[in-house]
Amino acid sequence: MTSSSRRINKAVFPVAGLGTRFLPATKAQPKEMLPVVDKPLIQYAVEEAYAAGIRHMIFVTGRNKRAIEDHFDTAYELENELEAANKHALLALVKSIQPDDMVLSYVRQPRMLGLGHAVLCAEHLVGNEAFAVLLADDLMVGKPPVLAQMAQVFERTGGSVLAVQEVPQDQTKRYGIVVGDMVEDRLLKVNHMVEKPDPAVAPSRMGVAGRYILTPAVFEQIRQQKQGVGGEIQLTDGISGLMQSEWVYAWQYEGKRYDCGSKEGFLEATVELALQHPEVGVHFREYLRQLDI
Ligand code: G1P
Repeated sequence: MTSSSRRINKAVFPVAGLGTRFLPATKAQPKEMLPVVDKPLIQYAVEEAYAAGIRHMIFVTGRNKRAIEDHFDTAYELENELEAANKHALLALVKSIQPDDMVLSYVRQPRMLGLGHAVLCAEHLVGNEAFAVLLADDLMVGKPPVLAQMAQVFERTGGSVLAVQEVPQDQTKRYGIVVGDMVEDRLLKVNHMVEKPDPAVAPSRMGVAGRYILTPAVFEQIRQQKQGVGGEIQLTDGISGLMQSEWVYAWQYEGKRYDCGSKEGFLEATVELALQHPEVGVHFREYLRQLDI
């Protein structure tokens, strides 16, 4: 493989999930459209992919997810109104959501058969090249952005790369857990991977965050999977299969992850990003200081 063929051009965003952990907010709107301060979760993930050099964004959607398509589409009425009102900064902000060189594709996951199945739904759009998977529930903040860090690892190694972090022992049941050999600072070669093990049997505390770079061979592996944990076709099991014939790496990313699929993580992200926000940060910090807590 030459280094030019190690460029990641496409990102898959599985966004078909029902968001039951955020009901009633997600009854009529996608959980990926919940805003942290002023930007929907899905936009943070798309911006992270764009910052990693990716221009083709592939969304695996479902019913009730139209707001995501609208968000990344041209909003003629809004743009005309803003133009007429001379609100140029806002107009630029709205237009920046979809830069001219960004390509968007949508495919439906007709049934909720699991994350592995969702990724498989994008196979015909990805084709025979390595690609990224981003779970928008996980809001990642890093410098450089976490996916860009992983793209560099892929460029060097040519193998699939999973973002990992140490998780508390009592939380292993929420994550794909990997076991590997440290080959460099922050980089492991993965030998073993298991989805959501009980703390009592978890082989390590190295948990997968929602960022992956995968080689296209993973599709065939997912296709061969039977139902795994929770009766779902698990991406973790497909990646385990991949390890029989290819190296898979785990990258201990530099940065911070907010689990915005949970209320606590969502609130933490909201508070911390609000504190850093150029428009509201200063005032919000003062407001928090004078709270009687
Ligand atoms: C998914 C994956 C899991 C991974 C997690 C990261 O689980 O199946 O391996 O650790 O995302 O957020 P989910 O959170 O969708 O249940």
